[in-house]
Amino acid sequence: MITYQNNLFVIEMQNSSYVFTDGDVPANVYWGEKLYGEELGYLVKRRGHSSFDQNLDRNREEYGFWDSYSVLESCLKVNYPETRKLNMHFQDYSIQTEGEKETLILRFQNEDSPLTAEIIYEIFPEFDMIGRSMRLKNNGEEVVIENLKSGSVSIPPQKKYRVRYLSGKWAGESHCNDQYLENGAFTIQSRTGNTGPHFNPSFALDNGTADEQSGNVWFGLLGYSGNWQITFEKTTFEDVKITAGISNFDFSYTLKNGEEIQTPIMYVGFTVGGYGKMSRTLHSFENRHILPRRQTGRVLYNSWEATCFDVRVDSQKELAERAAKIGVELFVIDDGWFGQRHSDKAGLGDWYVNKEKFPNGLNELILHVKKLGMDFGIWVEPESVNPDSDLYREHPDWVYHFKDQEPMQARNQYTLNIGKPEVKQFILDFMGKLLGENPDISFVKWDMNKTLMDVSAGNTATDKELWYRHVVALYEIWEELRKRFPNVEFETCSGGGSRIDLGILRFADQCWPSDNTDAYSRLSIQEGFSYFYAPRIMTAWVTDASTGDSRKYERPYSYRFHSAMMGMLGIGANISRFSEETLEEFAKYIAQYKEIRETVQYGMQYRLSSLRESPLHAVEYISENGEDIVIFAFHQGFHYDAAEPKVYPQGLCPEAVYQVEGMEETLHGSTLMNAGLETSLYGDFDSKFIHIKRV
Ligand code: DGJ
Repeated sequence: MITYQNNLFVIEMQNSSYVFTDGDVPANVYWGEKLYGEELGYLVKRRGHSSFDQNLDRNREEYGFWDSYSVLESCLKVNYPETRKLNMHFQDYSIQTEGEKETLILRFQNEDSPLTAEIIYEIFPEFDMIGRSMRLKNNGEEVVIENLKSGSVSIPPQKKYRVRYLSGKWAGESHCNDQYLENGAFTIQSRTGNTGPHFNPSFALDNGTADEQSGNVWFGLLGYSGNWQITFEKTTFEDVKITAGISNFDFSYTLKNGEEIQTPIMYVGFTVGGYGKMSRTLHSFENRHILPRRQTGRVLYNSWEATCFDVRVDSQKELAERAAKIGVELFVIDDGWFGQRHSDKAGLGDWYVNKEKFPNGLNELILHVKKLGMDFGIWVEPESVNPDSDLYREHPDWVYHFKDQEPMQARNQYTLNIGKPEVKQFILDFMGKLLGENPDISFVKWDMNKTLMDVSAGNTATDKELWYRHVVALYEIWEELRKRFPNVEFETCSGGGSRIDLGILRFADQCWPSDNTDAYSRLSIQEGFSYFYAPRIMTAWVTDASTGDSRKYERPYSYRFHSAMMGMLGIGANISRFSEETLEEFAKYIAQYKEIRETVQYGMQYRLSSLRESPLHAVEYISENGEDIVIFAFHQGFHYDAAEPKVYPQGLCPEAVYQVEGMEETLHGSTLMNAGLETSLYGDFDSKFIHIKRV
């Protein structure tokens, strides 16, 4: 519920309150555990210190319009030909209600030009979350924006401020880090033109004592798949302000008369239930409000690690036959089916079926797959092009490049300037043709294997807009494709996990979190991922080893399956080489996964034990009705004759009675949670699947 009293806006959610002042500089007064927000007038005072310090309310401002004086990160900074000072004044507000969702809009007007800003708060009360954004409308002379943020949030004073965030690299994404804030600024960001593998636009913050089960945690995610920035600033006055939005790096955007622009949405939330509760809240929120729809995820087979670029009808048919035998439901061919794509050196951009590999077209394989009882999916990388391709030879001007300069290549490719209307149309046309002519394609893996470089169309005045325009065009393409092909599922992939954020996930059903498919490395990658993203989104394959390097991993199949069963199970191994016995083993695990996948994909997830703290890794999932519980436990190797580790389930009903599969006696939830369960984990890379049912 949103109320406005005594110059305070009070947002009451299920378990939390968010309170800020009105006026030209709305300043946060409180954000945390639920209280009587309307009583907080006594805390509102103009705070000052000396003439060297600005009004201290600005350290906690909700949205900083740059007016020539700002000590901290501001949210909007513009340039007019004769001034760059904004004098924004609070005009009025409105509250819109739509079902259970309420939206608060504060309107501001610039004193010196017809420029209006709307600061938007979308409230999701049952999740204790707010979506923050700003819409800027110009009704006057052209204005150049050089800083555009979604908003700022402030944390009440704490003894310490620990920021938890994800960092990474290709094949090593979603590494969980803790950083204590000292006075000054700490920034996580992407400058690669996509969400990036180096940081993810998500964070959590506590006072250094919160754990999985308890403690106040403030958290946020930015829904944007281009250059982004989240800055944490701590002042000597104990103010902590977090500002998120589009990165200032190489950014500028011209808003013409009559135009408007809306920032990406920064989603923020608060919980008293520790990091575990934060993640469960986010998982349910994403399933409910972000993802395009709710649909049980199919077990897929992907041929990439088996056949690489050598995707041929015969070998794929053979793989498909074996995949069907073991219980796969969706057969996906990866890179290599089109153009002269025999390696990563050529063919990208030429979206016709390669006749040598598929003499009778794609349909032969699609029909085969359908006859085997599976659905069919396909890989594309529409934003990129190899220099050695017909597309590039025909349209060299379609790629980002600085005037008269050869653009830089990565993985032998360039990036298309998809903000150009004809390039965007080209993508819509070939994707429309592919999906229209092959109505049995029910899944698209959309890849993007290059960071954006040489982002220019040879026009110094508008080049800096291209970073942003790329993302807008991408979203428009996905939106249009989803509308035209509502039954097709989409996966977001970018050389592994470089495009995972709440912006793209409005259109994608799932994502590929990493090209690292080693089951042990995946435990850490998946754990980092689980902090902010739902298991339903996370695909995980059982493969022969990890792609792209010469390391060999010796992990039993049981361990590989258990690791991959913790999200959306897929198979990526070269199953055409397998013995009947191994295929049977695979079939057994896939059948087991199908029994519990609803619990894993849509249940409540509890991180019971982490490799960050012990050699035991254990994750529990409880079905939405509380009746089905699964635990995956892993041990990597014993040292010093260590004791056999136990797991302590969480989230059970203490008085309820449960049956652990394989045990004779039934046990109460309180017994299980407090006395724990033996895992019987003994050897190297041993793992256990524990299945519990409420009686
Ligand atoms: C990178 C992806 O992450 C892989 O899964 C695979 O699709 C390759 N690209 C194909 O080029």
